[in-house]
Amino acid sequence: TSSENGQITAMYQVANELYHHILVNTQIGEQALAYLHQRGLNDDMIAEFQLGYAPPKAVLQAVLKEKNKNLDYQILRKSGLFSVYEDGSLNDRFKDRVMFPIRNATGKIVAFSGRSLANDPNTPKYLNSPETTIFNKRKILFNFDKAKGAIRREKKCLLFEGFMDVLAAYSAGVKNSVASMGTSLTDEQIYLLQQNTKNIDLCYDGDLPGQKATKRALEILTPQNKFNLRVIALPDKMDPDEYLQKYGAEKFRTLINDSHETPLAFYMHFYEQGRNMDNEADQLDYLSDVLAEIAKLNDPLEQNLYLNKLAERLQLDKYYLEEKLKTLRQQYL
Ligand code: GTP
Ligand code: MN
Ligand code: MN
Ligand code: MN
Ligand code: MN
Repeated sequence: TSSENGQITAMYQVANELYHHILVNTQIGEQALAYLHQRGLNDDMIAEFQLGYAPPKAVLQAVLKEKNKNLDYQILRKSGLFSVYEDGSLNDRFKDRVMFPIRNATGKIVAFSGRSLANDPNTPKYLNSPETTIFNKRKILFNFDKAKGAIRREKKCLLFEGFMDVLAAYSAGVKNSVASMGTSLTDEQIYLLQQNTKNIDLCYDGDLPGQKATKRALEILTPQNKFNLRVIALPDKMDPDEYLQKYGAEKFRTLINDSHETPLAFYMHFYEQGRNMDNEADQLDYLSDVLAEIAKLNDPLEQNLYLNKLAERLQLDKYYLEEKLKTLRQQYL
């Protein structure tokens, strides 16, 4: 019910104030605060994004009940803020994690993502809130509430993989950026973007998972025929946050503003990976992968541009590429 949703929203706000207070004002939060500072986030950024720290021992129930004497067990359970044991007892879901509040488009906190401070392979690096009556993760883009104005002004949206990348960009003055919730883009997220801009720059991690995520995002976004898509490729398997920490804000902004490439330029690099480009069998596989991408282009001029590049890359006669393309094109007509 809407009154339940109101109560749950209020609980997230209280929880966030508590986690933020623990991070910035208490000794329990000192280590987490040092961690964030060491990752390049200053106190202004921590305040702007209301980052927090969930301590190792349970704190939430007592504080929530103190704020609202009427909270019943069912609403605590439905809130997603607690793990439920078999005997029905509740325990704080987030423990010993740096807390990133996740807001809906109107800026209300509807979920958290908590980053583990332990470098422990047995616990997930990021733990997200479960879906609740106020949190449908398909509909949420991290930072969309803050970024919306900048997306409209800059007529462009930058898509990152991680929360820390969005924060890094923001601290470097790049404010038109969002991240999906660690999953492929959904129709709902695309609709949100589409209402605000035609231009999307994909700025995913430079490692192989990031490149695969870029390919997947292109495959989802391209058939929409609504977007002008560009890829910002990160060097040396870095992610955007690492790039900023290593090279500084000025170079980061240059990367973001000046080094976008077309989807086809991205594919021409991507399909080289894991292939020996001096080996003929690998060359033929590469050729067929890139030609298949060229065949999907709508613009004959663009097709021609990349046929030329491909012919040049493999030292082939363009005539044969054109012939091959014609047969491939039949499949897309
Ligand atoms: P940092 O290590 O803090 O810099 O995070 P990152 O954003 O660089 O992490 P990574 O590139 O490994 O992952 C990208 C995004 O995937 C994260 O921001 C999360 O949204 C998501 N993700 C990563 N690890 C996990 C996980 O263990 N569980 C879940 N649910 N999501 C994850
Ligand atoms: Mn990654
Ligand atoms: Mn990353
Ligand atoms: Mn990172
Ligand atoms: Mn290039």
